[in-house]
Amino acid sequence: MRVERLCKAFEGKPVLTDCSFSFPTGETTAVLGPSGRGKTTLVKLMLGLLRPDAGTIDPEGAKTFAAVFQEDRLMEHLSARKNLRLAVSTPDQQISEALTALGLPARDETPVSQYSGGMRRRVAIARAVLADADVLILDEPFKGLDPAAREVAANFILSHCPRAVRILVTHDGAEKSLMQVKNVLDLGMAKEA
Ligand SMILES: Nc1ncnc2c1ncn2[C@@H]1O[C@H](COP(=O)(O)OP(=O)(O)O)[C@@H](O)[C@H]1O
Ligand SMILES: [Mg+2]
Repeated sequence: MRVERLCKAFEGKPVLTDCSFSFPTGETTAVLGPSGRGKTTLVKLMLGLLRPDAGTIDPEGAKTFAAVFQEDRLMEHLSARKNLRLAVSTPDQQISEALTALGLPARDETPVSQYSGGMRRRVAIARAVLADADVLILDEPFKGLDPAAREVAANFILSHCPRAVRILVTHDGAEKSLMQVKNVLDLGMAKEA
């Protein structure tokens, strides 16, 4: 997937100016930068949730997209399992395995509204990973997870989506090694917006 000379402003204030970058298949690319630098804006443009003011987005053959959004975006009154069932066509057995692999109870009718922040985050991660998309966007996916849970979640993502274009948005450089990042787009290096 490639973006070319992308520009996006909000109310006349430029957020992305001439942003060009390639996101290789089968690798994790980190999108780094301090808060407010346009990381989420970039991935929303790539997902088609925002329209660029200028520039192009070339999926380079990628057809399906999944995302862990910056917010969990769960169905609050439903269980973890039902949240996954609604979103993905994965067989029940694999849904159970995914929940267990992420340290979540596999059979639990508790609505996710009663889950902790870290548990909710893991449900959002499972949902995106099980979608098995060509492009997997992860916008601060490990927020609220302790170091051990981060490692488990990162291994889960890498083992289930080895061939995807993986895009990890973070302001924490330490997450790069967890996700075996070789390719970095640092929006913090761009000139001040
Ligand atoms: N829908 C919007 N309307 C107006 N301003 C926005 C909107 N979305 C983002 N912004 C602004 O754009 C800048 C970049 O935001 P964002 O992409 O969320 O940054 P990051 O994800 O790097 O923290 C911020 O100043 C933010 O306030
Ligand atoms: Mg953001």
